[in-house]
Amino acid sequence: MSHKRVAILISGGGSNMVSLVDSMTGDHPARPCLVLSNNADAGGLAKAADRGIATAVVDHRPFGGDRAAFEAELCKPLLEAKPDIICLAGFMRVLTGDFVSRFQGRMLNIHPSLLPKYKGLNTHARAIAAGDAEHGCTVHEVTAALDDGPILGQARVKIAPNDTPETLARKVLEWEHKLYPAVLERFARGDKAPVMLP
Ligand code: GAR
Repeated sequence: MSHKRVAILISGGGSNMVSLVDSMTGDHPARPCLVLSNNADAGGLAKAADRGIATAVVDHRPFGGDRAAFEAELCKPLLEAKPDIICLAGFMRVLTGDFVSRFQGRMLNIHPSLLPKYKGLNTHARAIAAGDAEHGCTVHEVTAALDDGPILGQARVKIAPNDTPETLARKVLEWEHKLYPAVLERFARGDKAPVMLP
């Protein structure tokens, strides 16, 4: 069996990347081929290298607001790695419609809210401020619209009365680490039926 090749894009600590990489063993249909970051200081780069995975960095800052020019550079290591699937895992740059359409149908993202609620940033604080009883995370196919696209899985977390954005973020992140690998495995088998946790 030839494995599907998975490139993972990160900007920070990379805990979701680690959970994806560590899941791709045994009879899993995919294997990691690249971890790519827009940030040379991303903690996840060392974690990927420790696991023997190729890494690359394309710093977005020299490009200023020129997202197309940044993405042209980003595409170079990405296309070289010949990924079948691209996983955004805490990748904090907004991608243009051109970039997204190039990889549409094979690019996934994890977002820390129960989409369609709370697209964008500060999702945990917004869920608490709204008085929501539950919060969670979503894995979805990436389309040109931000934090949109067909939902491939969600995990729900109860909000406790004493939760702060920080405590809630920790609880949600634990579920992200279960949800994303479960969705990736199913997706790599060609199955887009949503994974609903717990
Ligand atoms: C995760 O909580 C992820 O859902 C979030 O950033 C964190 C990255 O953590 N992503 C977004 O907010 C995307 N808009 P990690 O680097 O430890 O995986």
